[in-house]
Amino acid sequence: MEYESSMYLSPLTVILVAFIFGLWIKTSKSKGKNTDAPGPRGWPVIGNLLQLGKKPHETLTRLRRTYGDVYAIKMGSRETIVLNGLQTIRAALVKRAEDFAGRPDFYSFKFIANGNSMGFGDYGPRWKMHRRLAQNALAMFINKKNNPIEESICQEANVLANNLLQNGNNPIDPHTEIYLSVGSIICAICFGQRYKRDDPDFLHLVKMNDEFMAFAGAGNPVDIMPWMRHLTRRSFNTFLGILDSMNQFCNKKRQEHLDTYDPFYTRDVTDCLIQAVDETPNEEKEAVGLTDEHILTTVQELIGAGFDTIASTLQWCILYMMTNPQIQEMVHEEIRANVGLLRSPELDDMEKLPFTEACLLEAIRISCIFPFALPHSTTRDTQFQGYFIPDKTLVFVNMWSVSHDETIFSEPKKFDPYRFLTIEGEIDRTKLDNFLPFGAGRRKCPGEQLAKMEMFLFFATLMQRLKISQVSGDNVIVDSKYGLTLKPINFRSIVTKRI
Ligand code: HEM
Repeated sequence: MEYESSMYLSPLTVILVAFIFGLWIKTSKSKGKNTDAPGPRGWPVIGNLLQLGKKPHETLTRLRRTYGDVYAIKMGSRETIVLNGLQTIRAALVKRAEDFAGRPDFYSFKFIANGNSMGFGDYGPRWKMHRRLAQNALAMFINKKNNPIEESICQEANVLANNLLQNGNNPIDPHTEIYLSVGSIICAICFGQRYKRDDPDFLHLVKMNDEFMAFAGAGNPVDIMPWMRHLTRRSFNTFLGILDSMNQFCNKKRQEHLDTYDPFYTRDVTDCLIQAVDETPNEEKEAVGLTDEHILTTVQELIGAGFDTIASTLQWCILYMMTNPQIQEMVHEEIRANVGLLRSPELDDMEKLPFTEACLLEAIRISCIFPFALPHSTTRDTQFQGYFIPDKTLVFVNMWSVSHDETIFSEPKKFDPYRFLTIEGEIDRTKLDNFLPFGAGRRKCPGEQLAKMEMFLFFATLMQRLKISQVSGDNVIVDSKYGLTLKPINFRSIVTKRI
């Protein structure tokens, strides 16, 4: 009798069983949409997050040895493809450009530039138009034929050298001075005005930048598990505060520009963007969903992107020069012999300074400030190197695996500028194709030309005028802090005058 009653299924049980079965079918169907790329097992809910450690780029580069160039990890419950190695990354970003050109719908991205960002926005017709307008605006001031900003950079590089000398024989952490100088240049490009170092708005902008980059690193739990923001409310609110201050700073400048705008005289990138709003037909903008707000907000991301990147790289340059004094002497000697000490280095001097350029390239390679570029996402179901990757899969492009690939760069952790030189001492241009500091394909950095020019002029001027030495007794640690960009751990130097 008991047996019979246990066999009896109430209507409720039937509904429940049907529901669970339905769910199971749904889940197994969606499982069919998962990638079949190999990868390490993760924990429920958090996936592989804890395994990433303090240096996710190094951990994910090590995993390449076990799982190959294309493997999957779980960021929370979110499946993520990691692309490793020069050939594989090129094959994805260049040969399969559209498939990998998306950006993920990260929680924090919704707040950047009020959700109007081009760099953090997803791929599609709107992004294409936005990117074109942003590139055109930048190209007005930095292009192959004409660099109206070169003179300002040379002047600012000399201001930086003077300021670094202010401490006499006392140690100085060059961080803030570098950020102020580089910030001044991007503000000159965007707002037509180099800032005074004690301008409170400007100082605030510099401070906000550091906090923003620390928050926005790849692998941020809030982006993977948005509910985490309730647990990390304070830091998330700080993040929103930073974005808000940035908005206010740029809106103030925008208004000043709108009030004084003259269509016949373009002063800066903000004017270019106002012009783009006026000149792009409304039907074209509406057809792709690009608003005037999108266009005008572009200035915010150019400031964000054009500031921290160059300043961090220059910090790395100084650190490597300080810890490699013989190389530093050789750079100075090259500049002394080919430019002299009576005038500042200019862009046209670059070809006469291959050793200087090689040191800059090596600093860019070894520091690899964007270890995962910006996070990518697939824009459709795709088959790549034998693996199925569904639409909207989060993709980490592991740049570190390229710049620290020992099959391309022997002893990758060693600072060795000779790897970029031929036996005759010229820059070996073939080597430049061996790493991708500015990314590749559709999302390639639009600021590459400005960045190269600015880094060269600042670096060469500093090396011409200054000697950077270690503080005796300091234990200098050449290592990075992890964030969206890799910055050196703070260090101090003694800066002395050469000229
Ligand atoms: C050392 C200097 C710099 C480095 C190493 C660098 C590197 C990069 C990298 C790796 C990306 C991501 C590519 C990807 O997602 O695949 C990127 C994107 C970007 N960069 Fe740069 N960058 C530098 C300077 C600049 C400057 C000076 C600007 C502008 C003034 C700039 C503007 C941007 C923008 C707007 C994006 C987003 C592009 C998009 O999503 O379409 N960058 N950069």
